[in-house]
Amino acid sequence: MDTLIFATNNQDKADEVRQVLGNLFAIITLKEAGITIDIPEPYDTLEANASLKSATIYNLTGKNCFSEDTGLQVFVLNGDPGVKSARYAGENASSKANIEKLLHNMGTTKNRGARFRTIISLILNKKEFQFEGICEGEIIPGERGQHGFGYDPVFVPTGSKLTFGEMTTKEKSAFSHRKKAMDKLILFLQSLR
Ligand code: IMP
Repeated sequence: MDTLIFATNNQDKADEVRQVLGNLFAIITLKEAGITIDIPEPYDTLEANASLKSATIYNLTGKNCFSEDTGLQVFVLNGDPGVKSARYAGENASSKANIEKLLHNMGTTKNRGARFRTIISLILNKKEFQFEGICEGEIIPGERGQHGFGYDPVFVPTGSKLTFGEMTTKEKSAFSHRKKAMDKLILFLQSLR
């Protein structure tokens, strides 16, 4: 089985990606590869941050790898929190604090449309390839569900009545932005065989 380093320290993301990949590729997270760096996200686009993450790991290991960067874009907030999703309420903010700030800033508006957007950056044999995945939905005014991570308890994808937080990983993958980007990555990798 081919091996790819997944440039993440987020175990939830690694679990989601492993579920999508099945037996196609073995995924090694940074921790499993013995890499303990925390790669910054200094740019104002998902594309640039994803590129930086994969390039950093490729330069460090010389091994094929991929990274992903995801942002929640809320239309009434002009696309915020966007690239700042992880640190919306401040550096190292908890998901709870980020959600509280988001709900506060949205107030009672009826315009609750939002989307998750994922960019995957793959570095394969020194070349970079990017793949996009989008999940449209809306932000509900209070948290529901214990599953998932980040903004999952307040995001209801279009076509469901449940929040991501009320879904199992498998159920979430039927809608997920990350799954859509991963599907494109998998098709690309399969096309090379
Ligand atoms: P990252 O920069 O790609 O690690 O993601 C930024 C932040 O977006 C994360 O810390 C989460 O708060 C949020 N996020 C990313 N993906 C998801 C998801 O699938 N569900 C809920 N929140 C997410």
